[in-house]
Amino acid sequence: MKTSTPASLLAAITMAPRDPILGITEAYNRSTHPAKINLGVGVYYDDQGKVPLLQCVRQAEADLLQHPKPHTYLPIEGLAAYNNAVRRQLFDGTRAFDEQRVITLQTAGGTGALKVGADFLQRFFPDAQVWISDPSWENHAALFEAAGFTVNAYPYYDAARNDLNFPAMLATLEQIPAGDIVLLHACCHNPTGLDLDDSQWQQVLEIITRRRLIPFLDMAYQGFGGSLAEDGKVVQRFADSGLTVFVSSTFSKSFSLYSERIGALSVVSASPDEAARLLSQLKRTIRTNYSSPPGHGAAIVAAVLGSDQLRALWEQELAQMRERITGMRQQLRARLQQHLPARDFSFLTRQAGLFSYTGLQPEQVTRLREEFEIHTLGTGRICVAAVNSGNLDTIATALARVM
Ligand code: LMR
Repeated sequence: MKTSTPASLLAAITMAPRDPILGITEAYNRSTHPAKINLGVGVYYDDQGKVPLLQCVRQAEADLLQHPKPHTYLPIEGLAAYNNAVRRQLFDGTRAFDEQRVITLQTAGGTGALKVGADFLQRFFPDAQVWISDPSWENHAALFEAAGFTVNAYPYYDAARNDLNFPAMLATLEQIPAGDIVLLHACCHNPTGLDLDDSQWQQVLEIITRRRLIPFLDMAYQGFGGSLAEDGKVVQRFADSGLTVFVSSTFSKSFSLYSERIGALSVVSASPDEAARLLSQLKRTIRTNYSSPPGHGAAIVAAVLGSDQLRALWEQELAQMRERITGMRQQLRARLQQHLPARDFSFLTRQAGLFSYTGLQPEQVTRLREEFEIHTLGTGRICVAAVNSGNLDTIATALARVM
Protein backbone atom coordinates (compact mmCIF):
# COMPACT_ATOMS: atom_id res chain seq x y z
CA MET A 1 0.00 0.00 0.00
CA LYS A 2 1.29 3.43 -0.91
CA THR A 3 1.36 6.00 1.87
CA SER A 4 1.15 9.62 0.81
CA THR A 5 3.54 12.10 2.41
CA PRO A 6 1.58 14.58 4.54
CA ALA A 7 1.70 18.16 3.26
CA SER A 8 4.35 20.22 5.05
CA LEU A 9 2.99 22.50 7.75
CA LEU A 10 5.37 25.10 6.38
CA ALA A 11 4.28 24.77 2.77
CA ALA A 12 2.56 28.16 2.74
CA ILE A 13 5.70 30.10 3.70
CA THR A 14 6.86 32.20 0.76
CA MET A 15 10.34 33.55 -0.04
CA ALA A 16 11.31 36.67 1.91
CA PRO A 17 12.60 39.54 -0.22
CA ARG A 18 16.36 39.88 -0.48
CA ASP A 19 17.90 42.27 2.04
CA PRO A 20 18.31 45.62 0.24
CA ILE A 21 21.93 45.99 1.42
CA LEU A 22 23.35 42.59 2.34
CA GLY A 23 21.45 41.08 -0.62
CA ILE A 24 23.70 43.15 -2.91
CA THR A 25 26.75 41.51 -1.35
CA GLU A 26 25.11 38.10 -1.90
CA ALA A 27 24.62 38.90 -5.60
CA TYR A 28 28.17 40.27 -5.82
CA ASN A 29 29.58 37.10 -4.21
CA ARG A 30 27.65 34.95 -6.69
CA SER A 31 29.07 36.81 -9.69
CA THR A 32 32.08 35.11 -11.25
CA HIS A 33 33.16 38.18 -13.21
CA PRO A 34 36.85 38.89 -12.47
CA ALA A 35 36.45 42.68 -12.50
CA LYS A 36 33.33 42.91 -10.32
CA ILE A 37 33.09 45.86 -7.90
CA ASN A 38 30.91 46.08 -4.79
CA LEU A 39 29.83 49.62 -3.88
CA GLY A 40 26.84 48.35 -1.92
CA VAL A 41 27.56 47.54 1.69
CA GLY A 42 28.96 50.14 4.08
CA VAL A 43 32.39 48.69 4.70
CA TYR A 44 35.72 50.54 4.61
CA TYR A 45 38.27 49.06 2.18
CA ASP A 46 41.87 50.20 1.88
CA ASP A 47 43.46 51.35 -1.39
CA GLN A 48 44.18 47.71 -2.29
CA GLY A 49 40.47 46.93 -1.95
CA LYS A 50 40.96 44.94 1.26
CA VAL A 51 39.13 45.25 4.59
CA PRO A 52 42.00 46.34 6.84
CA LEU A 53 43.13 44.61 10.02
CA LEU A 54 44.09 47.68 12.06
CA GLN A 55 47.51 47.66 13.73
CA CYS A 56 45.95 48.62 17.06
CA VAL A 57 43.64 45.58 16.81
CA ARG A 58 46.53 43.30 15.79
CA GLN A 59 48.56 44.43 18.81
CA ALA A 60 45.64 44.09 21.23
CA GLU A 61 44.90 40.59 19.90
CA ALA A 62 48.56 39.54 20.18
CA ASP A 63 48.51 40.63 23.80
CA LEU A 64 45.24 38.78 24.47
CA LEU A 65 46.78 35.64 23.00
CA GLN A 66 49.80 36.04 25.28
CA HIS A 67 47.51 36.06 28.29
CA PRO A 68 44.79 33.52 27.49
CA LYS A 69 41.69 33.54 29.63
CA PRO A 70 38.89 30.97 29.96
CA HIS A 71 35.74 31.68 27.96
CA THR A 72 33.24 32.08 30.75
CA TYR A 73 30.00 34.08 30.42
CA LEU A 74 30.21 37.85 30.38
CA PRO A 75 27.67 39.69 32.54
CA ILE A 76 24.30 40.27 30.82
CA GLU A 77 25.24 43.89 30.10
CA GLY A 78 28.68 42.97 28.77
CA LEU A 79 32.31 43.50 29.72
CA ALA A 80 32.60 46.21 32.40
CA ALA A 81 35.93 47.55 31.05
CA TYR A 82 34.37 47.86 27.58
CA ASN A 83 31.19 49.56 28.79
CA ASN A 84 33.19 52.02 30.89
CA ALA A 85 35.50 52.81 27.99
CA VAL A 86 32.59 53.38 25.60
CA ARG A 87 30.74 55.55 28.09
CA ARG A 88 33.86 57.65 28.57
CA GLN A 89 34.49 57.81 24.83
CA LEU A 90 30.98 59.11 24.09
CA PHE A 91 30.06 61.15 27.15
CA ASP A 92 33.23 62.35 28.93
CA GLY A 93 32.92 66.11 29.34
CA THR A 94 29.15 66.14 29.78
CA ARG A 95 27.26 66.84 33.00
CA ALA A 96 25.31 63.63 32.55
CA PHE A 97 28.59 61.69 32.64
CA ASP A 98 29.88 63.50 35.72
CA GLU A 99 26.56 62.96 37.50
CA GLN A 100 26.61 59.22 36.65
CA ARG A 101 23.34 59.37 34.78
CA VAL A 102 24.56 57.45 31.71
CA ILE A 103 24.39 53.69 31.37
CA THR A 104 26.13 51.75 28.61
CA LEU A 105 25.50 48.13 27.68
CA GLN A 106 27.54 46.07 25.24
CA THR A 107 25.45 44.87 22.29
CA ALA A 108 25.82 42.80 19.13
CA GLY A 109 26.86 45.67 16.85
CA GLY A 110 24.92 48.88 16.31
CA THR A 111 21.99 46.82 15.02
CA GLY A 112 21.89 44.96 18.34
CA ALA A 113 21.90 48.29 20.19
CA LEU A 114 18.97 49.54 18.12
CA LYS A 115 17.07 46.29 18.67
CA VAL A 116 17.64 46.17 22.44
CA GLY A 117 16.59 49.84 22.63
CA ALA A 118 13.56 49.22 20.40
CA ASP A 119 12.39 46.18 22.40
CA PHE A 120 12.80 48.09 25.64
CA LEU A 121 10.89 51.14 24.34
CA GLN A 122 8.12 48.92 22.98
CA ARG A 123 7.75 47.29 26.41
CA PHE A 124 7.35 50.62 28.24
CA PHE A 125 5.90 52.88 25.53
CA PRO A 126 3.76 50.57 23.36
CA ASP A 127 1.66 53.49 22.08
CA ALA A 128 4.61 55.55 20.88
CA GLN A 129 5.37 55.67 17.16
CA VAL A 130 8.80 55.92 15.58
CA TRP A 131 9.98 58.61 13.13
CA ILE A 132 12.96 58.06 10.86
CA SER A 133 14.47 60.27 8.19
CA ASP A 134 13.37 59.92 4.56
CA PRO A 135 15.55 58.22 3.43
CA SER A 136 17.24 56.30 6.21
CA TRP A 137 19.29 53.14 6.62
CA GLU A 138 17.02 50.45 5.16
CA ASN A 139 17.13 48.35 8.33
CA HIS A 140 15.83 51.14 10.61
CA ALA A 141 12.21 50.81 9.51
CA ALA A 142 12.36 47.01 9.35
CA LEU A 143 13.91 46.74 12.80
CA PHE A 144 11.50 49.08 14.61
CA GLU A 145 8.53 47.50 12.82
CA ALA A 146 9.74 44.06 13.89
CA ALA A 147 9.81 45.38 17.46
CA GLY A 148 6.11 46.25 17.10
CA PHE A 149 6.22 49.97 16.25
CA THR A 150 4.48 51.93 13.54
CA VAL A 151 7.31 53.67 11.68
CA ASN A 152 6.80 57.07 10.00
CA ALA A 153 9.20 59.22 8.03
CA TYR A 154 10.18 62.88 8.40
CA PRO A 155 11.49 64.66 5.27
CA TYR A 156 15.26 64.96 5.16
CA TYR A 157 16.51 64.99 1.60
CA ASP A 158 15.70 67.09 -1.45
CA ALA A 159 16.41 64.90 -4.48
CA ALA A 160 16.16 67.81 -6.94
CA ARG A 161 19.00 69.73 -5.25
CA ASN A 162 20.81 66.69 -3.83
CA ASP A 163 20.81 68.49 -0.49
CA LEU A 164 18.98 68.62 2.83
CA ASN A 165 15.35 69.62 2.99
CA PHE A 166 15.66 71.20 6.40
CA PRO A 167 12.50 73.38 6.42
CA ALA A 168 10.34 70.34 5.62
CA MET A 169 12.14 68.33 8.30
CA LEU A 170 11.40 70.99 10.93
CA ALA A 171 7.79 71.36 9.84
CA THR A 172 7.21 67.63 10.34
CA LEU A 173 9.05 67.46 13.66
CA GLU A 174 6.68 70.21 14.86
CA GLN A 175 3.73 67.88 14.21
CA ILE A 176 4.99 64.76 15.96
CA PRO A 177 2.89 63.81 19.00
CA ALA A 178 4.53 64.02 22.44
CA GLY A 179 6.13 60.78 23.56
CA ASP A 180 6.98 59.55 20.06
CA ILE A 181 10.51 58.38 19.25
CA VAL A 182 12.66 60.30 16.74
CA LEU A 183 15.59 58.46 15.25
CA LEU A 184 18.46 60.75 14.21
CA HIS A 185 21.85 60.01 12.67
CA ALA A 186 24.43 61.64 14.95
CA CYS A 187 26.98 61.98 12.11
CA CYS A 188 27.68 60.70 8.58
CA HIS A 189 24.01 60.24 7.67
CA ASN A 190 23.32 56.87 6.08
CA PRO A 191 22.48 56.84 3.15
CA THR A 192 22.78 60.49 2.05
CA GLY A 193 26.08 61.55 3.66
CA LEU A 194 24.40 64.90 4.47
CA ASP A 195 24.50 66.09 8.08
CA LEU A 196 22.86 69.01 9.87
CA ASP A 197 25.09 71.91 10.88
CA ASP A 198 25.40 73.23 14.44
CA SER A 199 22.55 75.71 14.27
CA GLN A 200 20.25 73.18 12.57
CA TRP A 201 20.97 70.64 15.34
CA GLN A 202 20.14 73.34 17.89
CA GLN A 203 16.75 73.90 16.25
CA VAL A 204 16.02 70.17 16.14
CA LEU A 205 16.97 69.79 19.79
CA GLU A 206 14.74 72.72 20.72
CA ILE A 207 11.70 71.13 19.02
CA ILE A 208 12.39 67.70 20.50
CA THR A 209 12.62 69.23 23.97
CA ARG A 210 9.54 71.41 23.61
CA ARG A 211 7.42 68.63 22.13
CA ARG A 212 8.63 66.08 24.65
CA LEU A 213 9.86 63.58 22.06
CA ILE A 214 12.30 60.74 22.74
CA PRO A 215 15.53 61.10 20.71
CA PHE A 216 17.32 57.93 19.62
CA LEU A 217 20.71 58.84 18.15
CA ASP A 218 22.34 56.28 15.89
CA MET A 219 26.10 56.73 15.52
CA ALA A 220 27.70 54.06 13.35
CA TYR A 221 30.43 56.13 11.68
CA GLN A 222 32.11 58.24 14.36
CA GLY A 223 35.47 59.43 13.07
CA PHE A 224 34.64 59.09 9.37
CA GLY A 225 33.17 62.58 8.89
CA GLY A 226 35.51 64.56 11.13
CA SER A 227 37.62 63.78 14.18
CA LEU A 228 36.15 61.63 16.95
CA ALA A 229 35.41 64.79 18.93
CA GLU A 230 33.80 66.60 15.99
CA ASP A 231 31.61 63.64 15.05
CA GLY A 232 30.75 63.03 18.72
CA LYS A 233 29.49 66.58 19.36
CA VAL A 234 25.83 65.87 18.68
CA VAL A 235 25.70 63.03 21.19
CA GLN A 236 27.32 65.29 23.80
CA ARG A 237 24.93 68.14 23.07
CA PHE A 238 21.88 65.88 23.46
CA ALA A 239 23.36 64.31 26.61
CA ASP A 240 23.52 67.74 28.20
CA SER A 241 20.05 68.82 27.11
CA GLY A 242 18.28 67.35 30.13
CA LEU A 243 16.39 64.90 27.91
CA THR A 244 16.26 61.13 28.13
CA VAL A 245 18.43 60.08 25.19
CA PHE A 246 19.08 56.68 23.62
CA VAL A 247 22.35 56.23 21.71
CA SER A 248 23.35 53.25 19.59
CA SER A 249 27.00 53.06 18.60
CA THR A 250 29.30 50.54 16.99
CA PHE A 251 32.99 49.83 16.36
CA SER A 252 32.30 47.74 13.25
CA LYS A 253 33.61 50.46 10.96
CA SER A 254 35.89 52.55 13.15
CA PHE A 255 37.83 49.50 14.38
CA SER A 256 37.20 47.43 11.22
CA LEU A 257 35.71 44.76 13.50
CA TYR A 258 32.62 43.88 11.45
CA SER A 259 32.39 40.18 12.27
CA GLU A 260 32.93 40.68 16.00
CA ARG A 261 29.54 42.43 16.30
CA ILE A 262 30.74 44.94 18.84
CA GLY A 263 28.43 47.85 19.61
CA ALA A 264 26.77 49.54 22.56
CA LEU A 265 23.48 50.98 23.72
CA SER A 266 23.77 53.99 26.02
CA VAL A 267 20.93 55.76 27.77
CA VAL A 268 21.15 59.20 29.34
CA SER A 269 18.66 59.35 32.20
CA ALA A 270 17.50 61.85 34.82
CA SER A 271 19.34 60.53 37.89
CA PRO A 272 21.69 57.73 39.01
CA ASP A 273 18.70 56.05 40.62
CA GLU A 274 16.70 56.11 37.39
CA ALA A 275 19.79 54.89 35.55
CA ALA A 276 19.99 51.85 37.86
CA ARG A 277 16.34 51.00 37.22
CA LEU A 278 16.78 51.37 33.44
CA LEU A 279 19.85 49.16 33.54
CA SER A 280 17.97 46.43 35.38
CA GLN A 281 15.17 46.48 32.78
CA LEU A 282 17.52 46.60 29.81
CA LYS A 283 19.30 43.58 31.23
CA ARG A 284 15.98 41.73 31.14
CA THR A 285 15.55 42.70 27.50
CA ILE A 286 18.98 41.25 26.73
CA ARG A 287 18.58 38.13 28.90
CA THR A 288 15.36 37.14 27.12
CA ASN A 289 16.94 37.81 23.75
CA TYR A 290 20.49 36.40 23.66
CA SER A 291 21.35 36.16 27.37
CA SER A 292 24.75 37.86 27.31
CA PRO A 293 27.13 39.09 24.61
CA PRO A 294 30.29 37.50 23.15
CA GLY A 295 33.68 38.45 24.55
CA HIS A 296 36.39 38.84 21.94
CA GLY A 297 35.44 42.14 20.29
CA ALA A 298 34.81 43.76 23.66
CA ALA A 299 38.21 42.61 24.92
CA ILE A 300 39.93 44.13 21.87
CA VAL A 301 38.17 47.49 22.10
CA ALA A 302 38.63 47.70 25.88
CA ALA A 303 42.36 46.98 25.47
CA VAL A 304 42.80 49.64 22.79
CA LEU A 305 40.75 52.35 24.50
CA GLY A 306 42.40 51.51 27.82
CA SER A 307 45.97 52.00 26.58
CA ASP A 308 47.35 55.45 25.73
CA GLN A 309 49.66 53.97 23.12
CA LEU A 310 47.06 51.79 21.37
CA ARG A 311 44.44 54.51 21.54
CA ALA A 312 46.77 57.00 19.84
CA LEU A 313 47.53 54.38 17.18
CA TRP A 314 43.80 53.80 16.64
CA GLU A 315 43.10 57.52 16.23
CA GLN A 316 45.90 57.73 13.71
CA GLU A 317 44.60 54.74 11.74
CA LEU A 318 41.05 56.11 11.84
CA ALA A 319 42.31 59.48 10.54
CA GLN A 320 44.05 57.66 7.67
CA MET A 321 40.82 55.88 6.73
CA ARG A 322 38.91 59.16 6.85
CA GLU A 323 41.51 60.98 4.75
CA ARG A 324 41.55 58.22 2.14
CA ILE A 325 37.78 58.52 1.72
CA THR A 326 38.03 62.31 1.45
CA GLY A 327 40.70 61.92 -1.23
CA MET A 328 38.52 59.48 -3.17
CA ARG A 329 35.56 61.86 -2.95
CA GLN A 330 37.69 64.63 -4.49
CA GLN A 331 39.10 62.40 -7.22
CA LEU A 332 35.75 60.88 -8.12
CA ARG A 333 34.25 64.35 -8.31
CA ALA A 334 37.07 65.57 -10.58
CA ARG A 335 36.82 62.51 -12.86
CA LEU A 336 33.05 62.83 -13.22
CA GLN A 337 33.40 66.53 -13.89
CA GLN A 338 35.78 65.73 -16.77
CA HIS A 339 33.32 63.22 -18.24
CA LEU A 340 30.22 65.43 -17.78
CA PRO A 341 31.36 69.07 -17.50
CA ALA A 342 27.82 70.46 -17.58
CA ARG A 343 26.79 68.64 -14.38
CA ASP A 344 27.41 69.59 -10.79
CA PHE A 345 29.18 66.92 -8.75
CA SER A 346 29.96 69.12 -5.74
CA PHE A 347 27.61 66.95 -3.64
CA LEU A 348 30.36 64.31 -3.53
CA THR A 349 32.61 66.52 -1.43
CA ARG A 350 29.77 68.11 0.58
CA GLN A 351 28.72 64.70 1.86
CA ALA A 352 30.59 63.05 4.73
CA GLY A 353 31.29 59.50 5.85
CA LEU A 354 31.25 56.31 3.87
CA PHE A 355 28.34 57.05 1.57
CA SER A 356 27.33 59.19 -1.32
CA TYR A 357 23.76 59.51 -2.50
CA THR A 358 24.36 59.94 -6.22
CA GLY A 359 20.85 60.48 -7.52
CA LEU A 360 21.19 57.35 -9.68
CA GLN A 361 17.82 55.85 -10.59
CA PRO A 362 17.03 52.12 -10.24
CA GLU A 363 17.37 51.50 -13.98
CA GLN A 364 20.80 53.18 -13.98
CA VAL A 365 21.84 50.97 -11.05
CA THR A 366 20.70 47.93 -13.06
CA ARG A 367 22.82 49.09 -16.02
CA LEU A 368 25.83 49.53 -13.73
CA ARG A 369 25.48 45.92 -12.67
CA GLU A 370 24.63 44.41 -16.05
CA GLU A 371 27.03 46.38 -18.24
CA PHE A 372 29.87 47.19 -15.84
CA GLU A 373 29.67 44.60 -13.03
CA ILE A 374 29.38 47.40 -10.50
CA HIS A 375 27.01 46.39 -7.72
CA THR A 376 25.28 49.03 -5.61
CA LEU A 377 21.97 49.82 -3.92
CA GLY A 378 18.82 50.46 -5.96
CA THR A 379 18.50 53.82 -4.18
CA GLY A 380 21.69 55.09 -5.84
CA ARG A 381 23.73 55.05 -2.64
CA ILE A 382 27.35 54.18 -3.26
CA CYS A 383 30.01 53.35 -0.69
CA VAL A 384 32.84 55.77 -1.44
CA ALA A 385 35.06 53.78 0.94
CA ALA A 386 35.11 51.02 -1.69
CA VAL A 387 36.60 53.32 -4.35
CA ASN A 388 40.38 53.05 -4.69
CA SER A 389 43.11 54.22 -7.06
CA GLY A 390 42.82 50.92 -8.97
CA ASN A 391 39.07 51.06 -9.69
CA LEU A 392 38.48 54.85 -9.68
CA ASP A 393 38.63 55.28 -13.45
CA THR A 394 36.41 52.27 -14.12
CA ILE A 395 33.82 53.54 -11.65
CA ALA A 396 33.92 57.14 -12.91
CA THR A 397 33.59 56.03 -16.55
CA ALA A 398 30.71 53.69 -15.74
CA LEU A 399 28.87 56.29 -13.66
CA ALA A 400 29.28 58.89 -16.39
CA ARG A 401 28.00 56.44 -19.01
CA VAL A 402 24.80 55.57 -17.15
CA MET A 403 24.22 59.20 -16.11
C1 LMR B 1 25.28 49.67 5.51
O1 LMR B 1 24.42 50.55 5.61
O2 LMR B 1 25.67 49.24 4.41
C2 LMR B 1 25.94 49.12 6.75
O3 LMR B 1 25.43 49.74 7.87
C3 LMR B 1 25.90 47.65 6.81
C4 LMR B 1 24.55 47.09 7.11
O4 LMR B 1 24.44 46.30 8.04
O5 LMR B 1 23.58 47.42 6.42
